[in-house]
Amino acid sequence: MAILVTGGLGYIGSHTVVELLNNNFDVVIVDDLSNSERFILKNIEEITGKKPAFYPFDLKRKELLTQVFDAHEITGCINFAASKAVGESQLKPVDYYENNLFSLINILQEFKERQISNFIFSSSCTVYGQADQMPIDENTPLKMPESVYGKTKQMGEEILTDFAKAYHRKISLLRYFNPIGAHPSAKLGELPIGIPNNLVPYVMQTAAGVREKLSVWGDDYPTEDGTAVRDYIYVVDLAKAHVAALQKLINDPSEETLVDIYNLGTGKGSSVLEVVKAFEIANNVEVPYQICKRREGDITIAYAHVDKAEKELSWKAGTPLEEALRTVWEWQKYLESRNT
Ligand code: UD1
Repeated sequence: MAILVTGGLGYIGSHTVVELLNNNFDVVIVDDLSNSERFILKNIEEITGKKPAFYPFDLKRKELLTQVFDAHEITGCINFAASKAVGESQLKPVDYYENNLFSLINILQEFKERQISNFIFSSSCTVYGQADQMPIDENTPLKMPESVYGKTKQMGEEILTDFAKAYHRKISLLRYFNPIGAHPSAKLGELPIGIPNNLVPYVMQTAAGVREKLSVWGDDYPTEDGTAVRDYIYVVDLAKAHVAALQKLINDPSEETLVDIYNLGTGKGSSVLEVVKAFEIANNVEVPYQICKRREGDITIAYAHVDKAEKELSWKAGTPLEEALRTVWEWQKYLESRNT
């Protein structure tokens, strides 16, 4: 019995594979290496002392996926494989819809034909847009996301909900807030491919001198220090939530709730400048920055209501921001040591 982890060599996927292996799940990874590298697999093996099965192909290739399902007794899937650059998704909408939705549908075809249940989907708090109230709980009305990337997440949720209801299968939609940090071993983290869009990778590269200055997108938001507020969750805490969600799907035989939805965050909001200061203090480094005008499409504030995940999954994101930011700096040092 094995769990298929698509995108299992990616940022959140690789951390989740480690947690699954540590919890004695057999893991089958499919990853086309479009946003990762082979050394991540080697590092997963070093951390866990286990060797997951690995298939390097694009999930749009249905015939190869069928072979994986023929070769392993798959009993569930965590689907991380997706393109995720918000800006790029606006420029290449057809590619984003094709990549993010066709791969999902190919897996669901296999699930449907083989009577498999237990599907976990990487969703995002982007499905809430700028919510009217904080914190954001799972009943907060969804708003049409501004980006094509966000729309693929919302469409993925709808496809899966219809799938669960029509075929009586159990699924979990996990809505991540802002994942940050790296593995405590410093062997896994977010790979710096191109210029980072997200805050923490940009802060990391600025502290390392790869980038000259961080641009803080807007200091005129109606928040305490004028910069936008997000809920930054440590990636290892997030990975553990996947194991808890999977265990719930597998262990709860009732079909009463076919669709589980959880917000995964810390419940605490931090502003951009708070993150910058916390990074400087945690790592004793300087992060030069300049205030710029707001980034188009950004919301003012988002942080999660976390009671449902805490209660139903017996899970809590407990790692403090500074500790998560320390792992980011260790990861940067590891990447530098690989280049020398
Ligand atoms: C972004 C995506 C979101 C995606 C998430 C994944 C957008 C509009 N949204 O969310 O769909 O699910 O990443 O983690 O891109 N910031 C700076 N300077 C920078 C980078 C960011 O000031 O160089 C600020 C942003 O304006 C924002 C905060 O930092 O206020 C967090 O930004 P980011 O890490 O990109 O995440 P989100 O925008 O929340």
